[in-house]
Amino acid sequence: MKAEDVKKIAVIGAGDMGHGITAAFLLGDYDVVMRDIEQKFLDKGIASIKASFDKFKEKGKLTPEAYDEALARLTTTVDLQEAVKEADFIIEAVPEKLELKQSVFTDLDKYAPKHAILASNTSNISITDIASATKRADKVIGYHFFNPAVLMKLVEVIKGEKTSDESIQVGYDIAQKIGKVPVIVQKDSPGFIYNRVNEPTLLLLSKILEVGHPTPEEFDAAFKPIMPMAPFELVDYVGIDIAVHGLNYFAQVLSEDYKPSDAFEAYLKSGNLGKKTGKGFYDWSAGRPKIDLSKATTEYDPNHLIALQVNEATKLLEEGVVDDPRQIDLAMVNGGGTPVGLFALAEGIGYPVLLAKLEEIYNKFPLNVFKATKTMKEGKIKV
Ligand SMILES: NC(=O)c1ccc[n+]([C@@H]2O[C@H](COP(=O)([O-])OP(=O)(O)OC[C@H]3O[C@@H](n4cnc5c(N)ncnc54)[C@H](O)[C@@H]3O)[C@@H](O)[C@H]2O)c1
Repeated sequence: MKAEDVKKIAVIGAGDMGHGITAAFLLGDYDVVMRDIEQKFLDKGIASIKASFDKFKEKGKLTPEAYDEALARLTTTVDLQEAVKEADFIIEAVPEKLELKQSVFTDLDKYAPKHAILASNTSNISITDIASATKRADKVIGYHFFNPAVLMKLVEVIKGEKTSDESIQVGYDIAQKIGKVPVIVQKDSPGFIYNRVNEPTLLLLSKILEVGHPTPEEFDAAFKPIMPMAPFELVDYVGIDIAVHGLNYFAQVLSEDYKPSDAFEAYLKSGNLGKKTGKGFYDWSAGRPKIDLSKATTEYDPNHLIALQVNEATKLLEEGVVDDPRQIDLAMVNGGGTPVGLFALAEGIGYPVLLAKLEEIYNKFPLNVFKATKTMKEGKIKV
């Protein structure tokens, strides 16, 4: 199958990601069927799609005619068989549980046309494990959008052990067709690219909480001038529960080093999870926290975090997860990370500077995750 043969898309799940992915494909001129288990979830998804389209209309990015025309290409149903019977490309965005995803994929395999490609928007689960629930592992791909999917450009297109190159190519081409920036992940590996590169930063925050200094505000104040959201503030925004679960997941599948510190776990147990509960590291009850820049620590600066990211990115190259450093740069820029690619940034700053920063972190917290890789030490990557 080729991308031109894909006429009809089905999206399974109408939640935060499912509705955004549906909106993105509607805006990309595709016919989309969106499926959820109850009508009320579909109604919420439809309302969210309309809310996104309203914003585009207000900003003049969508004409009233295009708005109506895009919505007219959307159908919704609670019946899975009905949803996928004519679909050429199906994207699953149901909750992040392996058994649930496997049962959905077994059904998709049963009811979707034989030629259809089955894609999962999983953040972390192995594509190979999901594909094992089907008899068409060659047609199962990872398809990782970023939140909000209607706006964020990056789509990680992930190869499972048995995925064919043809299926990857179709996923890649249709992502491009709807104006996204696809990046191919050659090997099914924890956190794929974007989340993997960012996880050591979360580990550093976890360790800083453990030793008790600097405080989240002192730390954030050093980053706030150059980041729209400082690191601890971002964890509060996304949810302390999500951050702790992420660390636990990486501890299970990648390295014990990631095990969240008791101090981090304590926030989880207290129920203060950040913005959504009104309190986390900061008080959010009156809106975004005000960070006092005069409190900035001198112990850490942005190059420490860049060093952690570049070092982790070199592991992706050494492990064969990605074969071209420019693809990592593309992913980091379009996933919302940095305005400039990571390796481009490293060239500008200079590898010896970053290596020294990494060593400072390693000397404080001697964990394997923080150890410089061979590629990092050589410092020869050019993009
Ligand atoms: N939220 C994010 O920032 C984000 C980013 C990237 C990837 N993801 C991944 O996307 C997936 C979905 O996450 P979300 O945040 O949209 O979750 P969500 O809870 O907002 O939405 C999930 C939806 O799936 C529906 N659902 C449950 N079982 C179903 C089934 N059998 N068939 C159809 N629908 C079913 C639920 O009713 C719900 O509406 C997860 O795998 C998650 O890891 C999430």
